[in-house]
Amino acid sequence: MYKNNTLSGKIAFIAGGTSGINLGIAKGLAAVGASVAVLGRNSEKAEAAAAEITSTTDGKAIALTADVRDPDQVEAALKSTVSQLGKIDILISGAAGNFPAPAVGISPKGFKTVVDIDLIGTYNVFHLGFKHVNKGASLIAITAPQAVQVMPYQAHVCAAKAGINMLIKCLALEWGPAGITVNGISPGPIDETEGVDRLAPTEEARQRMIQQTASRRMGVKKDIADAAIYLSSELGAYVNGTILTVDGGTELGDASADCLSAPSRN
Ligand code: NAP
Ligand code: COA
Repeated sequence: MYKNNTLSGKIAFIAGGTSGINLGIAKGLAAVGASVAVLGRNSEKAEAAAAEITSTTDGKAIALTADVRDPDQVEAALKSTVSQLGKIDILISGAAGNFPAPAVGISPKGFKTVVDIDLIGTYNVFHLGFKHVNKGASLIAITAPQAVQVMPYQAHVCAAKAGINMLIKCLALEWGPAGITVNGISPGPIDETEGVDRLAPTEEARQRMIQQTASRRMGVKKDIADAAIYLSSELGAYVNGTILTVDGGTELGDASADCLSAPSRN
């Protein structure tokens, strides 16, 4: 429903944009005119992602390799984007790590690994990206329901994503006067992604996840890409410091009861 020139001339940098939801965002931004840089640790995966974007849209795409935990690598990737595409208008931090495990089974290194990728990685991308973005830039972190909803076997992810939600608000407050917006998108369970495959590896677990979602379906990558286009276009220019929840009602809590056919007095 967006015009195909909605983001014409805009430059987007997407950390973690080489697969899943974030690749969906990169494809969505490119489809409405943005030039995109996608970044991940695996260079072959990054090259394949950039090739997929250029073959399915008219947009320009470049592949970057870096670990978001390493500030020097992130800085080099940002500089490479500016020299190849130009100063950045849309800066997205979506790299994440997740494995389901009980807290007693997560070693200090395991806990730190997830906090480092998700929270410190987001700080690295935004903090270092600040001097590489244009006035009017839109910064978007990909957070998750775990930020506000307690989940078993997700202590590390809950802690990391909750930190991201607060970081978004702090940066929005400080950087708003510089003409920059900082927001988050919190996707619900999105079909055909690594995240869902890890948290719901069986059909039974998938169905349970769907029953726990008020809209009674998983999301698709386009649901999240559309939200990212909204936030990074003129349509979302006055939205700042917000977490845009796109989750079919997952965060509402227990949606398993069939309220419509529940007995009523009338
Ligand atoms: P995914 O396909 O595994 O995507 C993760 C991306 O991050 C890949 O491009 C990966 O590439 C990159 N990455 C991982 N660690 C990195 C690191 N240390 N440095 C740089 N890049 C790194 O996962 P997804 O399921 O689509 O999830 C994407 C985002 O959505 C995450 O932030 C996740 O928390 C959030 N989310 C997902 C769901 C869901 O249903 N899937 C729901 C809510 C929120 P390399 O492996 O090559 O580095
Ligand atoms: N249960 C408990 N601990 C686990 C674990 C599991 N299932 N998987 C990994 N860990 C621990 C490791 O044991 C290790 O700690 P230790 O050395 O004390 O044992 C620590 O986590 C780091 O593991 P390592 O494999 O060295 O980390 P990495 O940096 O190579 O990879 C991960 C990071 C573990 C998050 C990996 O799953 C990853 O790369 N994920 C990216 C993709 C992803 O998670 N997508 C979904 C996003 S929602």
